[in-house]
Amino acid sequence: MTEKNYLIAGGYGFIGSCFVRKLLEDKNNSICNIDKLSYASSLDSINYSNNDKYIFENIDIYEANEVKRIIHDFKPNFIINFAAETHVDRSIDDPDQFIKSNINGTFNLLEQGYQFWKELSSSEKTSFRFLQISTDEVYGSLSKNDKQFKEEDAYNPNSPYSASKAASDHLVRSWFKTYSFPTIITNTCNNYGPWQFPEKLIPLVINKCINNEKIPIYGDGTQIRDWIRVEDHINGINTVLEKGNIGEKYNIGAECELTNIQVVTDICRILDDVYPHADHPYDELIEFVTDRPGHDYRYAINNNKIKSLGWAPSYSWEVGIRETVNWYLSNREFLNSIMKQSYSGERLGKV
Ligand SMILES: NC(=O)c1ccc[n+]([C@@H]2O[C@H](COP(=O)([O-])OP(=O)(O)OC[C@H]3O[C@@H](n4cnc5c(N)ncnc54)[C@H](O)[C@@H]3O)[C@@H](O)[C@H]2O)c1
Repeated sequence: MTEKNYLIAGGYGFIGSCFVRKLLEDKNNSICNIDKLSYASSLDSINYSNNDKYIFENIDIYEANEVKRIIHDFKPNFIINFAAETHVDRSIDDPDQFIKSNINGTFNLLEQGYQFWKELSSSEKTSFRFLQISTDEVYGSLSKNDKQFKEEDAYNPNSPYSASKAASDHLVRSWFKTYSFPTIITNTCNNYGPWQFPEKLIPLVINKCINNEKIPIYGDGTQIRDWIRVEDHINGINTVLEKGNIGEKYNIGAECELTNIQVVTDICRILDDVYPHADHPYDELIEFVTDRPGHDYRYAINNNKIKSLGWAPSYSWEVGIRETVNWYLSNREFLNSIMKQSYSGERLGKV
């Protein structure tokens, strides 16, 4: 086994921490996690006790000098960028931070990564990768009968969040085209699983039910999202790192399209089973509220390209969501402590 140095940006967030937990399983991996520790981060999500190959630096990737310092000190073989502001509602209320982190921050990682890579030996250059973690939201919205998005489809972002992610993807692509910097972009769909900040749909709904609070659903709840267990996504990222072609994009989705109302009623059904309320079924907490501005109707991604690399999702929705509900029930202190770090925007708490 060869030793590899992984520089992970945003490794204390929901998906980044899952990736770091996976890397920690292999003692050959050296990991440097850089994260600004936003409201969405959880230090408890990574247990690195007795592992001297894990280091954390509290760095904002908006700070170019800090990014430069850590890249030159750590000497990565891989840079993987999970760091981003990620909540669409926050991007509508306060887009500024999305531009700084998602666009300027990605630029700093790219440019400093490229300056470091230029000085490597030819074999080190060949095996180096810069992987950008992106979203299906950059493609825009589909109608019910449209075909799923493919990698070659044009970007059509509709929210400040998706526009900032689209901009960063374009930068990443151009550093490959212009400088031959070995980048790859992955576009994933809605992830679910442990350690997700409970302003996002699934932990939010679980938390509302546990606290017997109303579940406000945007519009009529018929918007469709494509869902993947976060561990399946992480395995897909590793597949792309190992077998993906530089300069290309890979969709990582599990072909699991569900309406928001379906997701919510499934969670209510599982909770009725494993944590029943004395007085009523949980779906009685559902209420419909005025829709989000510019709310995309449907996201769905075609996963044939990554499947051709030998990857396939392992979780069914029913197993994945049941385990996830049980995880949040067993980790109530995570839901409680993290909600204190929430914000007071007018869209808070809607799904
Ligand atoms: N969660 C999803 O369903 C989903 C779907 C598609 C794509 N993505 C993408 O995956 C990536 C990770 O998403 P997530 O759900 O884990 O997000 P998250 O909000 O849970 O975590 C993001 C992490 O990045 C860190 N971060 C943000 N800005 C930073 C900065 N300027 N400098 C350093 N650290 C910074 C935060 O502190 C946090 O720890 C993002 O790029 C997101 O766009 C997520």
